[in-house]
Amino acid sequence: MRMLVTGGAGFIGANFVHATVAERPDVEITVLDALTYAGNRESLAPVADRIRFVHGDITDGPLVDDLVRDTDVVVHFAAESHNDNSLGDPWPFVQTNLIGTYTLLEAVRRYDVRYHHISTDEVYGDLELDDPSRFTESTPYNPSSPYSSTKAGSDMLVRAWTRSFGVRATLSNCSNNYGPYQHVEKFVPRQITNVLRGVRPRLYGDGRNVRDWIHVDDHNSAVWAILDGGTIGRTYLIGADGETSNREVVETVLELLGRDSQDFDFVTDRPGHDRRYAIDSTLLRTELGWEPRFADFRAGLEATIEWYRAHEDWWGPRKDATEAAYRAAGEAVTK
Ligand code: NAD
Ligand code: DAU
Repeated sequence: MRMLVTGGAGFIGANFVHATVAERPDVEITVLDALTYAGNRESLAPVADRIRFVHGDITDGPLVDDLVRDTDVVVHFAAESHNDNSLGDPWPFVQTNLIGTYTLLEAVRRYDVRYHHISTDEVYGDLELDDPSRFTESTPYNPSSPYSSTKAGSDMLVRAWTRSFGVRATLSNCSNNYGPYQHVEKFVPRQITNVLRGVRPRLYGDGRNVRDWIHVDDHNSAVWAILDGGTIGRTYLIGADGETSNREVVETVLELLGRDSQDFDFVTDRPGHDRRYAIDSTLLRTELGWEPRFADFRAGLEATIEWYRAHEDWWGPRKDATEAAYRAAGEAVTK
């Protein structure tokens, strides 16, 4: 099987490529990645001799056409992925998440290529902390940020291209991932690397916001379950029952690194900050028999801390610029 993986030098895409190389020797992988600030060729170094890497942009129509013509399946991870950045400058999000997805859809339509679209639970908006419900495949879309609204728009394009043009597509909407190779701008690696550098972790607002954490390998095994057995045209929610408040995450990181669990700061809140996400992944589990392997978030976090401890060569060069960008955006300690 010839597979085109967009965004394969990013966090989830790189982990997907590693797992696929290890577990699916019959798959020939081409990675298409623009190597934005979030992409890193080093993340693909362990599999460099087993894949083809194309440095290019998903909005480049002729390039995408060439690559899609010679492929059997496209798995589309590439995106501008960080909410905070989308508040500073939404344009790259519109360009990559909407125009990029459109460009891929037109190409898979032209050559009748199977397409899987990677999306996020954020398209559903947020839930109150005391709301007993969770997101399901039929929850109405209600995105809050420029990032999540462009992801929601891209999902809508996929649905329309499937219905109107018969594109053979599936979609998945996953909750917050953690694991190796995640950019230090994101919450979990930011706090781990802060503590490793002797800096106090930083909680937005009151720290009570809840995310539904899933290990990146569990996300990717679910993507493979959908590629293997998913129903064309269907959306699957991916989640591992990992609801945890941001404060609990920070306290656990501090504890696991042998520090006082209260040794953190509260900082300026994110405008429009979604309160809580929670996924009901019953459809994926019952229809496709998928189960997460990393059921214990604390153990997964411990393994992730060990990875960051051992790979300062990977994250160190990006840490200072990332923290400078947060400072420039006005982040300040509130208490
Ligand atoms: P990331 O920011 O770590 O990686 C994105 C990758 O896409 C980078 O390698 C970047 O260089 C590449 N890219 C960006 N714009 C491009 C363009 N125009 N052309 C080609 N390549 C481009 O993101 P991630 O966290 O790995 O997220 C991957 C996908 O998963 C995204 O679609 C995101 O919306 C979705 N998702 C992420 C999470 C999460 O918790 N991180 C959860 C659910 C869904
Ligand atoms: O839910 C899936 C989404 O998860 C993905 O679609 C996004 O691509 C991914 O970035 C992530 O979005 P979040 O905005 O939830 O992730 P982030 O890591 O930015 O923040 C997680 C939570 O932690 C959120 O409530 C904001 C908070 N936070 C974040 C940072 C960077 C802090 O309290 N302090 C911080 O320093």
